[in-house]
Amino acid sequence: MLSRFIRNNNITTIKYQSLFKLHAQKQLYTTTINKKKIVLGIETSCDDTSAAIVTSDRQILSEVVKSQQEMHEPMGGIVPTLASLGHSRHLPNVICETLDRANVSIADIDAIAVTRGPGLPPCLPVGLNAAKTLAAVNKKPLIGVHHMEAHALTARLTTPTSFPFMTLLISGGHTLLLTANGLGDYDQLGTTLDTAVGEAIDKVARALKLDWEGQSSPGPALERVASRGDPTRFQLPMPMLQRKKSVIAFSFSGLKTSVERLIQDQVKIEQDINDIAAAFQLTCIRHIEQKLRLALHQEMIMNKKPLTALVVSGGVASNKMFRSKLEQVAGSYDIPLVCPPPQLCTDNGVMIAWAGLERLEAGLLDEYTITTLPKWPIESLKEKNPL
Ligand code: KG4
Ligand code: ZN
Repeated sequence: MLSRFIRNNNITTIKYQSLFKLHAQKQLYTTTINKKKIVLGIETSCDDTSAAIVTSDRQILSEVVKSQQEMHEPMGGIVPTLASLGHSRHLPNVICETLDRANVSIADIDAIAVTRGPGLPPCLPVGLNAAKTLAAVNKKPLIGVHHMEAHALTARLTTPTSFPFMTLLISGGHTLLLTANGLGDYDQLGTTLDTAVGEAIDKVARALKLDWEGQSSPGPALERVASRGDPTRFQLPMPMLQRKKSVIAFSFSGLKTSVERLIQDQVKIEQDINDIAAAFQLTCIRHIEQKLRLALHQEMIMNKKPLTALVVSGGVASNKMFRSKLEQVAGSYDIPLVCPPPQLCTDNGVMIAWAGLERLEAGLLDEYTITTLPKWPIESLKEKNPL
């Protein structure tokens, strides 16, 4: 009856009901619509095992991250099969602790959101299978989240930002420049032709033999040594400066190889490490800046898109030098830079829960039969039934 009332909110459909009943139904309808929603988010796409509970009124009730740094640092990088083992070992306790800290039971949860892809093939099923089982047993809606859409939407959790906006997603697996037109509606403007910026950062940090210092990736260590260096001492080749200067795309592998060669030839004392790290970081930023300006010009000036903001997220967006340069770029196009706080730029369960909330409120739910999508182009979210 309630659903009929919602579908056909018209006095003729309820003419046989008493006024009391009508009032009660209206109350119920209003509370259903206005009820604060609570979503559990689960993230196991890469190395850290993470879960969080977030509400539709933007409260993070709890977040638990189990880092795998101790497992991967001695190997010099993330080993997918080890990461998968780590998720299998830790995810049940991470989920229990997330519920305990939020002081909610699974019955209070409105939906379970989980990273469906893109991500490491052995890691994604650990989270997805846990989420599917929890959802099916407890008869809760399931939402399979696109990891990169979650990075982009986190900005809307911390700073309400309306569509359309430009988003630059810089992480270990991606360097993506998109126009976000709406939920699940992204136009890809540019991507990397080879390695992602985060991957290049990790390889250079490894060549410089940097200690991860308890962090879950080597990026923060590279940022720290770069802050003590002179970025002008070594001249590094700027990627795509000649033939592909006007193409909106990125390339980091040539730069990475040049830096690795420089490290072999030049590193004698600590200051050499600092100076090389500073030069490398600055070249990455300048390359991204050049391509970002091309994209902003194309979208805002030529296509006259009323972009509201430049949203930057993903692990590399936690770097202060990147953030301050990108703020200047956004400012020169008269739009704000919106960056989630550093702990929400790197992978986390909060972004999955928030993306799940946005999808839940839009009625975008998934079947319990969905499977992982390790390679999942973000533009395919536009299709009604992608897979
Ligand atoms: O988004 P994220 O946590 O995981 C992926 O989805 O890949 O990004 C991880 C990447 C790694 O390459 C890491 O070294 C880099 O982000 N990263 C940083 C910083 N913090 C993390 N790069 C530069 N400076 C940082 N402070
Ligand atoms: Zn990520």
